[in-house]
Amino acid sequence: MVRALILYHSLFGNTKDVALCLAQGMEKLGIETACLSIDEVDINQIPNYDFLAIGGPTHMIGLSKAMKVFLTKLKSVNLHGIKGFAFDTRNHSRLNNKRWFILENSAARKIEGNMRRMKIEIIKPRQSAIVYGREGPLESNVKTSFQEIGKDIGNILGS
Ligand SMILES: Cc1cc2nc3c(=O)[nH]c(=O)nc-3n(C[C@H](O)[C@H](O)[C@H](O)COP(=O)(O)O)c2cc1C
Repeated sequence: MVRALILYHSLFGNTKDVALCLAQGMEKLGIETACLSIDEVDINQIPNYDFLAIGGPTHMIGLSKAMKVFLTKLKSVNLHGIKGFAFDTRNHSRLNNKRWFILENSAARKIEGNMRRMKIEIIKPRQSAIVYGREGPLESNVKTSFQEIGKDIGNILGS
């Protein structure tokens, strides 16, 4: 049985909602999925999972402070070979129209980079969910599209 863990940081609840949609999609494909905040997870349990998704809000075009601290802590755990996926929530930005641009407005880019450096095997490229303003709500298509992403990941993990 494949075991999956989705971790999120969320100030206003939007990233949490996205994480829950991802979990719903994966569970539809029969993947046993836990969905926890980075504040409540015991990092020593993470190596027991086959798959790890990490998502957070984009702050100042990068990581929130809490996510930075968490990723630093996570480096002390051996996650070599676990499969992974990174996501974020953010506002629309012209910076994101230029893929080459070093100042890409995305926490997911940084989360994914950290995961790669921890030797986590990224099985699906990072994805962003768009929110309106700081507190949301999410754009109307986001929940469905993250359920679909969850199903894609479920398919990859199940095959
Ligand atoms: C301190 C702060 C800085 C932010 N900076 C950015 C930013 O640089 N780019 C962006 O797209 N959104 C930015 N936002 C909007 C957040 O991305 C948005 O609040 C978040 O996606 C909502 O998710 P949450 O409800 O899970 O916290 C910022 C929000 C806060 C509170």
